[in-house]
Amino acid sequence: MHTSCDKRTIVSSPFKTILAIETSCDETAAAVVSDGRHLVANIVASQIDIHRRYGGVVPEVASRQHILAIESVVREAIAQTPGGWDTIDAIAATYGPGLSGALLTGLNTAKTLAWSRGLPFLQVNHVEAHLYATWIGGEVVPQFPAVALVVSGGHTLLALLRDHADAERLGGTLDDAAGEAFDKVARLLVLGYPGGPAIQNNAVAPASSQRLPRAWLHGTYDFSFSGLKTAVGTDPTLVAAGVAGNQDDLMRRRCELAYLFQESVVDILVRKTQAAVAASGACSVIVAGGVAANARLREVLRTKLRVPLHIPPLDLCTDNAAMIAACAYWHPVNGDLAVAVDPNLPFA
Ligand code: KG4
Ligand code: ZN
Repeated sequence: MHTSCDKRTIVSSPFKTILAIETSCDETAAAVVSDGRHLVANIVASQIDIHRRYGGVVPEVASRQHILAIESVVREAIAQTPGGWDTIDAIAATYGPGLSGALLTGLNTAKTLAWSRGLPFLQVNHVEAHLYATWIGGEVVPQFPAVALVVSGGHTLLALLRDHADAERLGGTLDDAAGEAFDKVARLLVLGYPGGPAIQNNAVAPASSQRLPRAWLHGTYDFSFSGLKTAVGTDPTLVAAGVAGNQDDLMRRRCELAYLFQESVVDILVRKTQAAVAASGACSVIVAGGVAANARLREVLRTKLRVPLHIPPLDLCTDNAAMIAACAYWHPVNGDLAVAVDPNLPFA
């Protein structure tokens, strides 16, 4: 399919400077972004060290931590904004998808601040917002239509963006999210938490030409990672190394399986993205979410894609509020102060 990739007129938002709040999972974050692109303040209080001992995010613990951190995180974002509150034109917050108790803190804080300061309130979809991390700071913004891949701890989604607020979901995961698979496999291989960086940093190519399975789900843009996870956990040489009890052999095999797992995930993500570009005639590709920080994924995408690739800097791949502000800028529809959190909020 052929599509014209002519430049579009950029419609600007009525809200020049936006304060945004994000608390959908385990990061308490507040940011101020102007013109949807320029980062003024970006504060992220991560709970990774607290959840590490459990090997995953504990929702109740996350909710309590957000309550403890939110006030100082917002104060710091405003303190770092030249002109402070006087420059803020609107307040945005994530209202889903995510952990309901966690979302509540950020959403209620944003609504309260908007009401008490008489500012417009803008409600934002967290998964859509991940894509807007690519608008921040970059010289060149993504051109529509764009194929968008969101790969995070909670979400794996492929979509076609025809314009701002005009998206079509192409497919998503049928079981584990990509980041969730990294986390679970790292746990199986006893490599650490969070699993993405642990797998990436420990991956060692085996001498053999072994490959782990890839669930292609031909004819769809869907993904499945649970079979791959099982293939790692039941790998005969891993099991044998465990029984033999030689710690060096066991560790070497774990690192090899980390490599093979990462190769399978990257291969599937890249090929499905390429197929979506070919079928849609998209002018660019956006890849975002925590797994977009993966060095191997970034490398393969850069070599394989034939259209411009937009991928956020590492610190804007994982959860942050700057992406919420950027997303709100391009969707300046006045929000509803009565809106409730929606843990299962769908994309588009
Ligand atoms: O976007 P994010 O901060 O949270 C959600 O919205 O879910 O993503 C967190 C996920 C975790 O699963 C983490 O293991 C993964 O992103 N991640 C990575 C890397 N860095 C973080 N996955 C693969 N490679 C990485 N370098
Ligand atoms: Zn996220």
